[in-house]
Amino acid sequence: MNSQAQRSDALVFFGASGDLAYKKIFPALQAMARRGRLDVPVIGVGRSGWNLEQLRARAHDSLQKHGGVDEAVFAKLAALFHYVDGDYREASTYVALRKELGDAKRPLHYLAIPPSVFPVVVEHLAQSGCSNNARVVLEKPFGRDLASAQQLNATLHSVFDESAIFRIDHYLGKGSVQNLSIFRFANTFLEPIWNRHYIDSVQITMAESFGVQGRGAFYEEAGAIRDVVQNHMLQVVSLLAMEPPTASYHESTRDEQVKVLRALRPLRPEQVVRGQFAGYRSEVGVAPNSTVETFAALQLYIDSWRWDGVPFYIRVGKCLPMTATEVLVTLKRPPMAQTSPCDTNYFRFRLSPDMIIAVGARIKRPGDELVSEPTELKVVQQPSCDDLDPYERLLGEAMLGDTLLFARQDGVEAAWAAVDPVLGDATPVHTYEPGSWGPPQAAELTAAVGGWHEPGPC
Ligand code: BG6
Repeated sequence: MNSQAQRSDALVFFGASGDLAYKKIFPALQAMARRGRLDVPVIGVGRSGWNLEQLRARAHDSLQKHGGVDEAVFAKLAALFHYVDGDYREASTYVALRKELGDAKRPLHYLAIPPSVFPVVVEHLAQSGCSNNARVVLEKPFGRDLASAQQLNATLHSVFDESAIFRIDHYLGKGSVQNLSIFRFANTFLEPIWNRHYIDSVQITMAESFGVQGRGAFYEEAGAIRDVVQNHMLQVVSLLAMEPPTASYHESTRDEQVKVLRALRPLRPEQVVRGQFAGYRSEVGVAPNSTVETFAALQLYIDSWRWDGVPFYIRVGKCLPMTATEVLVTLKRPPMAQTSPCDTNYFRFRLSPDMIIAVGARIKRPGDELVSEPTELKVVQQPSCDDLDPYERLLGEAMLGDTLLFARQDGVEAAWAAVDPVLGDATPVHTYEPGSWGPPQAAELTAAVGGWHEPGPC
């Protein structure tokens, strides 16, 4: 872990007038200021022709819509703000930025801008001296396939060392996702059974009841596999399947996660079912004959000693019956058991909107007979005000220079290598009705394990 001495001494965010700043960055900044964790200049860079007062007004408006304004904290935050207006392609923008940075020696640059602009910004940061001793934060998607991810990484590495690059996958900043490794490695009882001898299958469902929410143009470039499978879902797989990290070597957690991603068997078309909700093609920014998927179901294998032969199923989609992300780890049937594969023993981890850890077991049914019935031992943790929002957590860690919760270059590339063969039109896209669980073809993938698990109401 890096020491306090290496904390970033200025926070620059490009894309100050954009959507990401409005929805996520301003609320994270207020939360950091409230906890007393933000006391350095915060420099917004935008190309909207704004001035500092307009940046402050935008921040205030953002907070009113996302979590509320704490006026006393906001006054402190607003006093930290600086603003640089200019074209990201013009050297003069970076001269102005260098001036605003003043005495700052270790700035953090958050690129909350479209990926197509990353290379030019990175180049100008270097030419203007703004990249000296600096850190850079960027948002997924990190490329759109293996080749473009490698290209992006080469661009970043031409200026920044890997230890200064913070690739945000906000799933890694969720407390419920961090809990996966805590629950696995802070307890003794799981390790003996957490392998192919006892685990029958693993399912992860990320269901969203809403559509593309005005992001049709973005979605056309992405699709569900690029948007959430290559990153969020495969990070969850890596945490579920990794070997225990060593306590003495900080980087060992990411080493172990990356080992899982490298062991993923590249997907074959028959392991993937893509769907598109009826009505998607009428969304603004969407082609009338689009074949982009808003739903994907996949069957994955990890070629490792621990997981050989255990299927990992992933199902993600928009316009599904509910909004919930849930993992189901099903254990093999006990000998002689007369149960369906779905209601034998399992571990259930709800990752959002609430956090649940549940253990499925069978107990004696009340009454005369000596017969069993399924039950669940369940812990539910509702979000508490002590919890950090993922963006607050991740921004704070990046300021400290701790890369643990960020995607590493080799992991990003390994994840692309797994999904690359099934990107785009490698498989047909099937239409599904909004409010359904996706196209019926998806059921075939999990037929051997008793079907897809539907996240419960809680
Ligand atoms: C984003 C995707 O990364 O994650 C969105 O681009 C998706 O399409 C979102 O809706 C889900 O995040 P969360 O935290 O609401 O589960």
